[in-house]
Amino acid sequence: MALINDHFLKLKAGYLFPEIGRRVSQFCEANPDANVIKLGIGDVTEPLPTAITEAMHSALNEMSQHETFRGYGPEQGYDFLRSAIARNDYRDRGIDIADDEIFVSDGSKCDTGNILDVFGLDNKVAVTDPVYPVYVDTNVMAGRTGEADDDGRYEGLVYIPVTEENGFKPALPSEPVDLIYLCYPNNPTGTVASKETLKEWVDYAKKNDSIILYDAAYEAFITEEDIPRSIYEIEGAKDVAIEFRSFSKNAGFTGTRCAFTVVPKTLKGKTSSGELTEIHPIWNRRHCTKFNGVSYIIQRGAEAVYSDEGKKQIAELIQFYLTNAQLLREGLESVGITVYGGVNAPYVWLKTPGGSTSWDFFDQLLEKGHLVGTPGSGFGASGEGYFRLSAFNSRENVIEAVKRFQNVVS
Ligand code: MLT
Repeated sequence: MALINDHFLKLKAGYLFPEIGRRVSQFCEANPDANVIKLGIGDVTEPLPTAITEAMHSALNEMSQHETFRGYGPEQGYDFLRSAIARNDYRDRGIDIADDEIFVSDGSKCDTGNILDVFGLDNKVAVTDPVYPVYVDTNVMAGRTGEADDDGRYEGLVYIPVTEENGFKPALPSEPVDLIYLCYPNNPTGTVASKETLKEWVDYAKKNDSIILYDAAYEAFITEEDIPRSIYEIEGAKDVAIEFRSFSKNAGFTGTRCAFTVVPKTLKGKTSSGELTEIHPIWNRRHCTKFNGVSYIIQRGAEAVYSDEGKKQIAELIQFYLTNAQLLREGLESVGITVYGGVNAPYVWLKTPGGSTSWDFFDQLLEKGHLVGTPGSGFGASGEGYFRLSAFNSRENVIEAVKRFQNVVS
């Protein structure tokens, strides 16, 4: 009899978003006439900018001719895209990242999970709490944790609370940890980390020989001048951090799929016999073995994100969602709700009114307002009593959602 990976059986509930989907489908079946507005999963609603679709059309035409047809591309991504990323997102901003330190992929969710392949099972892992559930679940699947307790916290992981009480600033761990996940702008709280905060983490990582797994998928939503857009803005971070970026939220690629991971060549880990070794060739080996690259057509579309026209259109798209976030923030605050995020991020993080639990508030909003959000407790025990609304929706739906929300809580 084939044995399964028992670690999967430790996973507490279904993955958060399918679980929300299940509850919403159940509600819709029972209430077929309800016009449900979904501000749950952070999925974009606006079409791809024309600069991108034009580039994709033209790449598709190339694929239809013998002379320009392409089969397998380089697993790490085509040079034209790696170079556009390294230049625009890093070197033009004074950060020294080489083209071949960029690995193009089909998503940051996949990359943040897949990166674990290159790390040993005995690493001590720290996550903030609340946290993007993928970081935790992929470590459980890999066997890096014990069982979950009643609050859903897994034995063996170090949880760092980020709540109203500590101003959403993660405290440095009191015990040494080897791998640290940080996500800024933060999913789910929508808060950001200052240069000083990131410097403390980089210094911690240097001192403790740890590696920071830095998820910057929402970087494009930063509006405040002094907030770092990349961890590599912090001196020394190239020696201790891997950065994950995505075209999903800034350019509308959630369905199209394209992202990238930066693995600096100066980043080192230790072998079990104690020798220092570079992570870059190991990740390259893993990537080439398990991945065949993103389609040429999609990579040409991603390249167009960096054209003059693409940059302009993307800035408008981001502004559109940020205005939605502002409407949500202001609409909720006007009825006395305490709200965080939504300024440098497409997520608004609110305290549930009347101290109700996150899932009770989820049910209340769905039943009375036909509105869907994400229960904070789904992101971790410290998210209990909070709730997340996504600003990814049409303007019309956001305006209507604010009215319904106000009716439910007043
Ligand atoms: C979210 O809603 O947290 C995100 O859409 C999830 C993701 O990007 O995978």
